[in-house]
Amino acid sequence: PPVAAVIPAAGRGVRLGPGAPKALRALNGTPMLIHAARALAASRAVSLVVVVAPPDGAAEVKSLLDAHALPGGTPSGSLGRTDFLVVPGGDTRQESVRLGLDALPPEYGIVLVHDAARPLVPVDTVDTVIEAVRDGARAVVPALPLADTVKEVEPATEPGTPEPVVATPVRARLRAVQTPQGFDRETLVRAHEKVTDDVTDDASMVERLGERVVVVPGHEEAFKVTRPLDLVLAEAVLARRRL
Ligand code: CTP
Ligand code: MG
Repeated sequence: PPVAAVIPAAGRGVRLGPGAPKALRALNGTPMLIHAARALAASRAVSLVVVVAPPDGAAEVKSLLDAHALPGGTPSGSLGRTDFLVVPGGDTRQESVRLGLDALPPEYGIVLVHDAARPLVPVDTVDTVIEAVRDGARAVVPALPLADTVKEVEPATEPGTPEPVVATPVRARLRAVQTPQGFDRETLVRAHEKVTDDVTDDASMVERLGERVVVVPGHEEAFKVTRPLDLVLAEAVLARRRL
């Protein structure tokens, strides 16, 4: 089946500090969401990219995509051979993803969900995820082993109070999860219809349905731009790639 990618880009980027919505901030002169859209469009398998824009920023995002588009456009616009659509997002990431899914034409049987905040994901990672879905997995996440040891704590109710440690999961069994996460479309749509809990990724919604989710190797360059230091790293990676 044809593959579409939904790129949630509607967040404000509070942790990055004051400024434009995170996905619209520039990395070496190009908006983060353009880097992310190109990274997905670089996969030969991806034929549609749906960008979920900040709620009041859909027109701006559309003109950014048009400005960075290559020749060969279609009515909705294109990045090279890849078509794109823009829809306004919602208050939560989950809602934004659902609004992106709602905009998908019927022929797309495989859906990737990719954070605009992971602008540097290598195309090999995208293709690895797609391959695993094509090979029969209903939900696939790219992930890496952790460098840090992780503690579960009892979160402090007053700021500045030390937090008691509750448990230390065995690090070798933990994985830090990235995007794009890949899904059989019907499974992801069902998860978004049935699961209402607050979650931080799409695969966890599929897990709550009781469906199997599998992990494939992620990539260091698929890190999420979250805090100011991440901008420094992202621009250094781009400079190394000469972009
Ligand atoms: N996102 C979205 N709609 C929201 C919230 C987040 O589309 N209402 C998107 C972000 O644009 C980002 C991705 O989800 O591409 C991952 O979220 P995160 O890194 O948390 O980005 P923000 O929510 O923008 O950042 P912060 O949490 O620091 O405000
Ligand atoms: Mg957020």
